[in-house]
Amino acid sequence: MTDLYAVIGNPIAQSKSPQIHAAFARELDEDLRYEAILAPRDGFAAAVAAFRAAGGRGLNVTVPFKLEAFALATERTERAEQAGAVNTLKFDGEDALGDNTDGAGLVRDIQDRLGFVLSGKRVLIMGAGGAARGVVLPLLREQPASIAIANRTVEKALALQRLFAPFGAVEGGDYARLSRRQFDLIVNATSASLTGELPPLPPGVFASGSLAYDMVYGDGATRFLIHAREHGAAQLADGWGMLLAQAAESFFLWRGVRPDTRPLIGMLRGR
Ligand code: ATR
Repeated sequence: MTDLYAVIGNPIAQSKSPQIHAAFARELDEDLRYEAILAPRDGFAAAVAAFRAAGGRGLNVTVPFKLEAFALATERTERAEQAGAVNTLKFDGEDALGDNTDGAGLVRDIQDRLGFVLSGKRVLIMGAGGAARGVVLPLLREQPASIAIANRTVEKALALQRLFAPFGAVEGGDYARLSRRQFDLIVNATSASLTGELPPLPPGVFASGSLAYDMVYGDGATRFLIHAREHGAAQLADGWGMLLAQAAESFFLWRGVRPDTRPLIGMLRGR
């Protein structure tokens, strides 16, 4: 019988996940079906139960259900625990394993697809919401020289510093603290690009050879990436690569085989 997977969220029509996982299944010759489920905002648990009753093997979870998925999981990976959110569920009988593949996807996209080695690098993460929290630990595991977290609301950056300090060199603060400092990798984990805004980044932060990475994806370069290009970043990346790579990590969790994301970037951008 063909194995069944789905992405669940509200809204869901915009999701690229069905297209991505269908492409992965073709690439690796895996026999699976992948659907999109629109769950009512107060109906996540019921929708998951119905999906499992129909034989569903795994779910990708998107806005606004990542915290509910965390609570629903009967077992969680360490990276899901540290992210505080679950974007992937794997069902096995009564068990529901909760994972978070966002950070691992970011790291794979940076190192494997873009060829940027993280070890020894000075990393800056802008933002201290759920998106930022999900990527700190996987980035730290690659042994960067340091990770600075900058946020408008400084208390949220300091809270992440406290959470992740046991795992490596992490400091939180406001944007003003970044002046006269340089970074090799600057990740935009704020939602500012969604509204065409730019975090208040001092102009000199892009070190020579630096990579500017926006976790947001869309048509054309984001405001942050345009700014980064004008201020000396050597390499630019938007969130399409991470979207594909986190999906590939979910696919690997479910199926034990890892898709190559490189051929699919053009397809996603609509070329
Ligand atoms: P997500 O789950 O995408 O991380 P979130 O938890 O709402 O969403 O967090 C959004 C992040 O983007 C926050 O760090 C927010 O900064 P504040 O905590 O100070 O609100 C950041 N953000 C949003 N718009 C921004 C802007 N125009 N400039 C700088 N940071 C911005």
